[in-house]
Amino acid sequence: MGTPDKVPVGAHVNHANPGRIVGAGPAGLLLGQLLHRNGIDNVTLERQTAEYVLRRVRAGVIEQITRDLLDEAGVGGRMHSDGLVHDGVQICVDGVRHRLSFKALTGKTVTVYGQTEITRDLMDGRAAAGAKTVYAASEVSLHDVFTDQPRVTYRAGGAALEIACDFVAGCDGFHGISRKSVPAGAIATHERVYPLGWLGILSETPPVSEELIYVRHPLGFALCSMRTPTLSRYYLQCSLAEDIDAWPDERFWEELKPRLDDEARERLVTGPSIEKSIAPLRSFVAEPMRFGRLFLAGDAAHIVPPTGAKGLNLAASDVRYLSEALIEHYADKSDAGLDRYSERALARVWKAERFSWWMTTLLHRISDNSFDHKIQLAELDYLFRSKAAATAFAENYVGLAY
Ligand code: FAD
Ligand code: PHB
Repeated sequence: MGTPDKVPVGAHVNHANPGRIVGAGPAGLLLGQLLHRNGIDNVTLERQTAEYVLRRVRAGVIEQITRDLLDEAGVGGRMHSDGLVHDGVQICVDGVRHRLSFKALTGKTVTVYGQTEITRDLMDGRAAAGAKTVYAASEVSLHDVFTDQPRVTYRAGGAALEIACDFVAGCDGFHGISRKSVPAGAIATHERVYPLGWLGILSETPPVSEELIYVRHPLGFALCSMRTPTLSRYYLQCSLAEDIDAWPDERFWEELKPRLDDEARERLVTGPSIEKSIAPLRSFVAEPMRFGRLFLAGDAAHIVPPTGAKGLNLAASDVRYLSEALIEHYADKSDAGLDRYSERALARVWKAERFSWWMTTLLHRISDNSFDHKIQLAELDYLFRSKAAATAFAENYVGLAY
């Protein structure tokens, strides 16, 4: 891709490294760390402060691919010591709980380890390696990505900065500027917006169960999850118009209880929430994921509803393909991996989109149509009775089906 930063454009900074990564969420931090460890310097630009990024409570379940990449990035220590390995998951249908064992069906497991902790581990790893992340960078803008010398302009610390680079990785999430910088004629988007969201709380109480419980109930979906043996994460299906201030903790617990089975209701320990947020549910894919020297990764390119626990894991699989391709580009002077990046990533993305859409429609109360409810129950009954259906579910959940 030519000599990095040969042309210092504008009056400002000229870093001697080839990559610019926009966004310091899990995708951007992980990519930056993997490249840095392979001798490819890069600078990450993040709109928010580091403290703000660490306050966002999101993913909880990670697959083998994410575990492996965190190890490869040299930041897997705390994940191994503090992460909770889960052999299976439970699904409660109208008050009756069923268990699906990943271990028995696929030989694999998932790990419960919060995105906040992953972000902290990556931030620490980056700092220890001397890699540069610019927080509170505003007005980030991409230029000339279809040429061999893209440029990124931004403001930081009161200065306007302009830098040239070899490649730009757009890891700035669904609302970022990277995808929006692409001319409309060069990109296709596919979207489904669900008429609902998840209201989530974090509470310093012991989890109601040792495994996650996904709940299908006539009152609506719920999820009992966790972060540690003393920190619980619960979600309730809510309407998109929901006002979070209308949800004091007592109301949350009162809405959760009737959706649980008797044993879970009895074991449930309630307490004050330490975080509360609403996330809308959306399926979205942008194609392709490469535009000249701009490569999209993670939520910048695709969104899944959180029901299948796939978003962060997909971001990690994009980063695996992209980091391998960039390492190959610099080490072997071959662009074969970069040329295949979009196709490889999208093949995995669409399978995760299908699974996340399927799990969402299976477990939420999306319509008032009794036909839809009966179909949900028939499909769940099949899932619990058929080894083939259960195996397909487990393979998708642990990430083996891709
Ligand atoms: P993000 O985390 O969105 O990071 C993008 C970063 O870019 C942000 O830090 C943002 O501030 C920054 N940025 C944005 N715009 C700009 C700009 N203009 N300039 C510079 N920086 C910018 N996934 C799972 O795999 N398992 C789960 O269990 C799971 N549970 C979830 C539960 C909930 C409630 C939600 C909402 C999501 C869940 N996800 C889960 C999805 C997962 O959180 C996301 O897929 C993941 O955060 C994607 O990482 P990312 O780095 O691509 O994007
Ligand atoms: C979480 O713990 O936040 C979590 C777990 C499973 C999901 C989504 C979110 O499917």
